[in-house]
Amino acid sequence: MVRVEDHPILGKLGEGKIVTIFINGRELKAREGEPIAAALLAAGIRVFRHTRRRHEPRGLFCGIGQCRDCVMKVDGVPNVRTCVTPVRDGMRVETQD
Ligand code: FES
Repeated sequence: MVRVEDHPILGKLGEGKIVTIFINGRELKAREGEPIAAALLAAGIRVFRHTRRRHEPRGLFCGIGQCRDCVMKVDGVPNVRTCVTPVRDGMRVETQD
């Protein structure tokens, strides 16, 4: 899987050390500093949230923090834009409905 090396918002990402994050309670290895969305896509996870009214799946769309399709709950905080939020060791990410 190709990883993001130069993000338009976060800048050059480099290799980053491998850390552990938790996606809906499931352990996942990711690169520190890469966008959460990139780690999810690399793991084959495409659905980040569901729309309120029709419960339709949403995931990465713009990738630069503008559309909010990628929002998830991160460490208990809802509506975090995962495409512009860097991975930190131990963070807990949850699908948002
Ligand atoms: S994908 Fe558009 S804000 Fe994250």
